[in-house]
Amino acid sequence: MALLEARGVVSGYGDARILHGVDLDVGAEEIVTIIGPNGAGKSTLMKAIYGLIDCWEGRVTFAGEDVTGLRADEVTERGLCYVPQRENVFPTLTVRENLEMGAYIEETVSEERIADAFERFPILEERQHRRAGALSGGQQQMLALSSALMIDPELVLVDEPSAGLAPDLVDEVFDRLVTIREGTDTAILMVEQNARQALSASDRGYVLDMGENRFEGTDRELLESDEVANLYLGG
Ligand SMILES: Nc1ncnc2c1ncn2[C@@H]1O[C@H](COP(=O)(O)OP(=O)(O)O)[C@@H](O)[C@H]1O
Ligand SMILES: [Mg+2]
Repeated sequence: MALLEARGVVSGYGDARILHGVDLDVGAEEIVTIIGPNGAGKSTLMKAIYGLIDCWEGRVTFAGEDVTGLRADEVTERGLCYVPQRENVFPTLTVRENLEMGAYIEETVSEERIADAFERFPILEERQHRRAGALSGGQQQMLALSSALMIDPELVLVDEPSAGLAPDLVDEVFDRLVTIREGTDTAILMVEQNARQALSASDRGYVLDMGENRFEGTDRELLESDEVANLYLGG
């Protein structure tokens, strides 16, 4: 049994059906990337898994328990965190205060965890008393990830971690995710537009298109598939 299993997930907004029965697995300590065109429903899938929007049909299980229909904070308490693409830090709070808020559940964040975050990203320690809103985009992304890791989750969902970053910083983001997985044994499910680079850092991937599964496989299988390359990786 995988750590996360989504089966036949149907969801959307109002009366707009966006996901038409999506299946997805993430194993313990795995890095999995979802790619696909803009508007495919990648972010919607993450929101449905995390309980920010309702699953209309289908089921999500996490660590062997049915979490379908739970609220996001309840899902977080079970060890599944989510880093949205935008507005993922509290801009008026300091870096340290953001870490202390952790994943926003009522659990005291230990100094030891904060020290881990500072060791992983020394720039955060250097800027710990500055407002998060004053950090660069890349630094805010580090802080958002670090905040999610404060509760030592089993799995973190990350929506487009490289979005808005200068091209030369993109590979660094994926290296960092790999380092986090090595250091914490946390599984990572990300959505990415920089598909080749993200897949190269992943164990497996999924292609989502128009709210449906199109392809899935190991990083190599997807990267070496002519069909995937032509349709989704820009040739
Ligand atoms: N809050 C929302 N309300 C209504 N429609 C939405 C909302 N968010 C996204 N959508 C629509 O759902 C579809 C899938 O969006 P999204 O999941 O963000 O795609 P992706 O992340 O793959 O680019 C798009 O057609 C988008 O316009
Ligand atoms: Mg998206």
